[in-house]
Amino acid sequence: MIVGKPKPGDTVTLFVNAAQTVTCAGPARARCGAEMQDAGIQVGVGVAVQGDRIVAVDEDDALRRRFPSAAEVDCDRGVLAPGFVDSHTHTVFGRARYEEHELRATGVPYLEIAKRGGGIHASVRDLRSRSDDELFLLAVPRLQALAAGGVTTVEIKSGYGLSVHDELRTLRVVARLAATGPLNIVATCLGAHEVPLEYRERPDGRARWIDCLTHELYPAVAAEHLARFADVFCEPGVFTVSETRQLLEAARKHGMLPKLHADELHDGGAAVLAAQLGATSADHLAAISPEGIAALAASSTVATLLPATMLFLGTGRQAPARALIEAGAAVAVATDLNPGTSPLQSFPLVLTLAVSQLRLSASEAWIAGTVNGAAALGLAGITGQLREGFRADVAVHAADDFRALPYWFGERLCRVAWAGGRACHVSV
Ligand code: NIG
Ligand code: FE
Repeated sequence: MIVGKPKPGDTVTLFVNAAQTVTCAGPARARCGAEMQDAGIQVGVGVAVQGDRIVAVDEDDALRRRFPSAAEVDCDRGVLAPGFVDSHTHTVFGRARYEEHELRATGVPYLEIAKRGGGIHASVRDLRSRSDDELFLLAVPRLQALAAGGVTTVEIKSGYGLSVHDELRTLRVVARLAATGPLNIVATCLGAHEVPLEYRERPDGRARWIDCLTHELYPAVAAEHLARFADVFCEPGVFTVSETRQLLEAARKHGMLPKLHADELHDGGAAVLAAQLGATSADHLAAISPEGIAALAASSTVATLLPATMLFLGTGRQAPARALIEAGAAVAVATDLNPGTSPLQSFPLVLTLAVSQLRLSASEAWIAGTVNGAAALGLAGITGQLREGFRADVAVHAADDFRALPYWFGERLCRVAWAGGRACHVSV
């Protein structure tokens, strides 16, 4: 575990007086299929935090007897839960892309906008024109908004730099966000988000960009320890399955574990590839094939679904979450916070969409947003559960029942959130 040992002098804080406690307690790995039905709901149970760790989960009275001089956070008959893990975001970007939202409403598809030089390319032009400080200052309130919904761990991808210089700049901004705290941040290198326009214009441009990623960007990212994962937008019209394999195998040689934007809009066999590579997660999957479902179910790759993206794109489709769960896959959900397809900063709304659009039960949605989100970042032994020894990532929601979070859609019920034993949100 990365979390440190509490020092004897660290104050103990008890979270007590909850109406319900969503522990999500169980094995320190992704929950697959029917296992997702048990969110470990308890009554009369609180949590003791010391330093950056949970040191006990027990009945309130037992905690008070064991830690008589502890400080207390009164949950005020609310729901006590692990902090959410937002395992897929593109939080570092410049301006919003209002114009594309309207353009899509007139019938222009997402990939067509990208072909015309908009979409990801518009964000690339914009990011390159901004200073590191600007990018940092634009990202901070986005993280605060996520924390206000009870998120305590956030994955952030690069992918709007698309040059060695600007990808490294982006990942250094992510490192600065991580160092500043209080949220737990995990960095992913998404240099393979697109082929940059200046490369596209050349006949051998694609091959040259792939070569640049492999021989320049990945080694440079590894040299500065800037990313735990590498991701590729594996989609017909973006990167092919064989290019993705080549890229992720190269990234792995530099210590970055594979993740994929897989079968988002069209099935191209990306989910099957994710399983073959032993990717930590395969994300999106709205167009996954039956073979893809079977492959993920038989693998340890987490299927990360992003229901807000499909909603915001207006596709009228969603990933086949029930088929994935029934086949035995582990499903996570995340915001996909980005300026093009999901300008969403509310994790609780993702829980709503998980129930209403993906047809998960409330318990499954909670597991998808906690334990399985953690597993999608290789952190299943660190966070996502209220369990002794886990990182003190804890949230209190003003709700009488855990089902209230997906139910009251669009509401911000989170009153208090602590990440790694430090307050990251207090509602006023
Ligand atoms: O996850 N699909 C690729 N990447 C992002 C969107 C990027 C953008 O449009 O800016 C996604 O949806
Ligand atoms: Fe994404």
